[in-house]
Amino acid sequence: MDNKFILEMNHIEKDFFGNQVLKDVSIKVKPGEIVALIGENGAGKSTIMNILFGMPAIHQTGGFKGEVIINGEKVDIKSPIEAMKHGIGMVHQEFMLIDGYDVAENVKLNRENLKKTPLSLIFGKRLNLVDQASMHKDARTTLDSLGIDLGEQTRVGSLPVGYKQFVEIARELDKQNTRLIVLDEPTAVLTESEAETFLSCVRSVAEKGIAFIFISHKLDEVKNNSHHVFVLRDGEMVGDYHTKELNTIRMSELMVGRKVEILNRQMEDEDPSHQEICLELEHFGVSMPGEIARDITLQVKKGEIFGIGGLAGHGKISIANGIMGLYPSRGQVKINGKIMDVTRTDDTLDAGVAFVSEDRRGSGLMLDESIELNIAIAALKTKNRFVIKRLGIPFYDKKGAIKYAEKMIQELDIRCTGHSQPVRSLSGGNQQKVCIARALTLDPDILFVSEPTRGIDIGAKKMILDSLMKLNKEKGVTVIITSSELAELRSVCNRIAIVTEGRIAGILSSTDEDYKFGMLMSGAKYEEPGAAQGGDRPQDAAAAQGGDWPQDAAAAQGGDWPQDAAAAQEGGRPQNTAAAQEGGRPQNTAAAQGGGQSGDVAPARETERTVKE
Ligand SMILES: Nc1ncnc2c1ncn2[C@@H]1O[C@H](COP(=O)(O)OP(=O)(O)OP(=O)(O)O)[C@@H](O)[C@H]1O
Ligand SMILES: [Mg+2]
Repeated sequence: MDNKFILEMNHIEKDFFGNQVLKDVSIKVKPGEIVALIGENGAGKSTIMNILFGMPAIHQTGGFKGEVIINGEKVDIKSPIEAMKHGIGMVHQEFMLIDGYDVAENVKLNRENLKKTPLSLIFGKRLNLVDQASMHKDARTTLDSLGIDLGEQTRVGSLPVGYKQFVEIARELDKQNTRLIVLDEPTAVLTESEAETFLSCVRSVAEKGIAFIFISHKLDEVKNNSHHVFVLRDGEMVGDYHTKELNTIRMSELMVGRKVEILNRQMEDEDPSHQEICLELEHFGVSMPGEIARDITLQVKKGEIFGIGGLAGHGKISIANGIMGLYPSRGQVKINGKIMDVTRTDDTLDAGVAFVSEDRRGSGLMLDESIELNIAIAALKTKNRFVIKRLGIPFYDKKGAIKYAEKMIQELDIRCTGHSQPVRSLSGGNQQKVCIARALTLDPDILFVSEPTRGIDIGAKKMILDSLMKLNKEKGVTVIITSSELAELRSVCNRIAIVTEGRIAGILSSTDEDYKFGMLMSGAKYEEPGAAQGGDRPQDAAAAQGGDWPQDAAAAQGGDWPQDAAAAQEGGRPQNTAAAQEGGRPQNTAAAQGGGQSGDVAPARETERTVKE
C-alpha cells in the first residue's frame, strides 16, 4: 500500500516508574509538512520526541509501548545513531555544538570529509586525512541553501545564540538522507526577529520536501508557520487540527483545558512617586562571552518593575550576571546608595539582591536533589532560613522546607509527582519554575530575573509574571526583568531599557509606541523630545561623552578582555547582521512583538487528514 506519511507514531504509551506520561498518543507527519506539537510544561512533548530519537532516557526507564513507522516501514529505534540512519534529525534545545570548532567543523561533526594519503593507501582508511577544503565547501553550500549570511570559518563559541541555532539546522540538512527534523523549542533562545529569520528558513526547507516536527510555546509562531497542530494535555492527545482551523486563543484553551486570561498589567496601579533610586550603574561593562556589555549607565527606582530588552548578543543578558559577580566587570554599581564590590557576591546577596539566571541548568540547580531542597538551599545558606536548633545545634528544618515547597509547588503550579521528585526528571519549564521559587524564597529587595518565561507554557507564563507583579506590589520588591520577549516586558514593566551593542540605546515606557522600540533595537537613534535636557536620562548624557572612556580605550587595544579581541577578529560580526535584519523594517518587527493577533497568515499548504474536534 502506498503510504503517504513519512512518520507515523501509533498508540504510544510511556511511564516513568509508574507515572504514566503518554497515554495512547498518535502522531502522523507527511513529507514537507511542518507539524507543531504544543502542550503545557510536562505534557509529554519532549518525551514522545525522545522516543522517536531513541534517547537512552527512554530505554533506561523501561522503554515504551506502541509502534513507530517510518516511510511505511515499522522500525525499532534504539539509539540516536539509528534514528539518524532512518533520516531523522533533531535540533535539541540545549545546543550540541563544540565551541572551539568552526562552523564547518560543527556542521560535519562525526561525518568529516576525508581524503586519501600515500600512507592511507598502504595502511588503510585510519590514516586518511580530514579534507578541510571540501568540508568548508560543503558547509558553505548548505549554509547558502539556507540563505544564511554566516561565515563557515567562524568559531562557533563566538557566535550569538541565535546563530548557533542555524548551525544546528545546517548540520541536520548537510546529512543528505535527512527526511524529518525535530525542533524542540528552537526559538526559545531567539529574539522575535531572529526567530522569524530562522522560521522562514525552516519553511523554505520544508518546501523542498523535508518534514518538521516543531515544538514551541510561542503560539503565534505555531499559527504562522505550521500546517498541522497536535495538542498534548497531561500525556493525552486532545487536538489534531489543520492550523488554519485554530487561532492562538483556541490553541491555548486546548492546551490548558480552560479559558486562558491574556496577561495585562493594570497600569493604574502605578505610583509615580517612586523616586528613590535603589540601583545605579555607571559606565558598567561586563565581559561575558557573546553578550558583552560595554558601557551601561542607568538608574532603577525603588519599587518599579524595570525591563531590560534588546537583541541577542548585544549585552543585555550580561548586566545581571556582572552585578552578581559571575563575569569580570568594570565601572560602578551602587545599591541603595552604597558602592558595591561586585566580585563579593555574598555582599550583594546580603544587600538584598537575588538573581534567577537565564541558564537554568548552569544556575546551580542540583539536578539529582529534590524539589524541596532546590527551593530551600539558597535561603538556607545565606539567610539561615529552614534552620531549627536542637540543644543549640542548628539542623535543617526538613519539615518546614517541605511545607514551604508544597506551597510553592501549588502557587507556581509546578507539575511533579511531589516535593521529593528529583529536579532532573522535571520537564524543562517546571525546572524553570523551581529556579524562580528558589529566588522568591530569599525574600529579596531587588530581584533580577533573566528570561523568566523561556520555555514556559502560556498558562504558567501568566502565573510567573503574575507572581512577580504580586511580589512587587505586595512586598515592594524591585523587579528587574531581562527578556528577549518585548511583548512580555511591555505587559509587566514600568520602564524598559533597550541594550544595543553593549550600551543603553534608550529607556522607554511600556506604553510607548511600537516603532520607538523597533528603532532602538535596530540601532537607530530615537530622540525623545526633551532628552537633550539630560536630567532624568543619564544614559543619554553618558552616550554623548563618546569615546573618551578609559574602558573604550581598553577595548580598542583588545588586550584587556580576550573576548573583545575575539569579537574584533570576527570580521563578519554576526550580531550586526542580526541588527541589520531588524533595521530594514523596524515597524514590522515591532508589530510582530505586539503578540496576540497574528492574523491569518497560515501557510498555504493543505493536508487531507481527517480532523477530529
Ligand atoms: N527521565 C525521566 N524520569 C522521570 N520522569 C520524567 C523523565 N523525563 C520526563 N519525565 C516526566 O514526564 C513528564 C513529561 O515531560 P516532558 O519533558 O516530555 O514534558 P514537555 O511537554 O516537554 O514539557 P516542557 O514544555 O516543560 O519542555 C513530566 O511530568 C516529567 O516530569
Ligand atoms: Mg520539553
